[in-house]
Amino acid sequence: MNVTIIGSGYVGLVTGTCLADLGNHVVCLDLDQRKIDLLNSGGVPIYEPGLDALIQSNAEAGRLSFTTDVAAAVTHGEILFIAVGTPPDEDGSADLKHVLAAARSIGQHLRGFKVVVDKSTVPVGTGEKVAAVLRDALAARDLPDAGFSVVSNPEFLKEGAAVEDFMRPDRIVLGVDDDEAGQRALALMRRLYAPFNRNHERTRVMDVRSAEFTKYAANAMLATRISFMNDLANLADRVGVDIELVRQGIGSDPRIGYSFLYAGTGYGGSCFPKDVQALVHTAREHGQRLRVLEAVEAVNEDQKQVLVRKVFDAFGPDLAGRRFALWGLAFKPNTDDMRAAPSRVLVAALLRAGAEIVAHDPVARDEALHALRQDLAAEPALLERLRFADKPMQALEGADALVIVTEWKAYRSPNLAAMKALLKQPLVVDGRNLYEPEAMQRAGFRYLAVGRPMRG
Ligand code: UDX
Repeated sequence: MNVTIIGSGYVGLVTGTCLADLGNHVVCLDLDQRKIDLLNSGGVPIYEPGLDALIQSNAEAGRLSFTTDVAAAVTHGEILFIAVGTPPDEDGSADLKHVLAAARSIGQHLRGFKVVVDKSTVPVGTGEKVAAVLRDALAARDLPDAGFSVVSNPEFLKEGAAVEDFMRPDRIVLGVDDDEAGQRALALMRRLYAPFNRNHERTRVMDVRSAEFTKYAANAMLATRISFMNDLANLADRVGVDIELVRQGIGSDPRIGYSFLYAGTGYGGSCFPKDVQALVHTAREHGQRLRVLEAVEAVNEDQKQVLVRKVFDAFGPDLAGRRFALWGLAFKPNTDDMRAAPSRVLVAALLRAGAEIVAHDPVARDEALHALRQDLAAEPALLERLRFADKPMQALEGADALVIVTEWKAYRSPNLAAMKALLKQPLVVDGRNLYEPEAMQRAGFRYLAVGRPMRG
């Protein structure tokens, strides 16, 4: 099928590339000429395992191309995905200006029936706003009857596993209108996604509003599990309980399950923080409060301070003359994404307290520097005390403690003896619970994890 993706950011590129790999002819549109030039010269603007090779092979096969030409891109697709950003407004609501601008461009160039798919995460009612913009644009061209139908098809992929998640979806949510155009759109969407439904029907068809809400509900539920465990982990630290044993103990109940119950430094990234805030905001707009989710957000903000608190407990609030090794900057492994990354809170706090930092991250170094320059724009001199190490172990030399923020694989089984020899004192503050407290104790470390107190 012919498919157009509007917005060649994270979700757009992954969606377009994977759909091309399934045999469709895909055109990815972006207004950013530099991004399109980079993609056309074989570069990839984001870090995502497996994506670059897939882009290359599908571009070479002639199934995937990149353009800034709006008219050509709109004409190309039977199905047009809107996959542009929805950054949070100052009040936490999702800013729809890019989504509605994309709808306007479609309306200005559309001829004949098109399926317009909202792939971006958008609040309830956006499908209707997109349809209104399209209708207005068509009326202005004297084409009120050129057909279209707006479909909501939220994306559930995780950064770092995006290609795999797209190619092996748990479910495909399709929100469609209950009219003739909606049924025509549904038939086309079913054809597009048929390869995923061969052995097992994964499609959930519903109305547009419910589909839009489903995406927020999924992320809000996962964020709730994380904040719940972080809250319990902080209590576990005080009452001598190992939260990891508790996780296993409760996860074995199939009603609970094991996943997304890891205590840590709080959730970050481009989705959970933004989507939780947006849902809280939608509720308030409708005269209701989502009290559970408001607490989820408050607990998460607080949890981003957990490593700062542990470092201050160990060294006091004045860190002048102290040096810390820091492992991991990205908000999670296998990505260079620094959006809402807990490391940003930690780095700023340690630098403000006078510390030196030697940080390591396998891929996020440039992104991290960029983010931290923004965070510390008013106090740029602080960054003079931040350095980067090329290898994890290099960061440890002469450091007062190692602080672990992101659970990259490379940090999972270090040589503890070498680690101890390099550190000035054997202290590890672990925001991701990577090691067994007993093993660390046996190796002679003081080990401060999240909800895993040392015994004895
Ligand atoms: C998330 C959703 O998983 C995905 O379905 C949606 O489409 C986008 O948002 P992503 O933000 O890429 O994906 O990462 P995810 O792996 O879900 O992790 C989110 C955050 O939660 C990370 O900061 C991670 O460290 C944290 N997390 C996750 C925990 O602290 N504990 C857990 O048990 C799981």
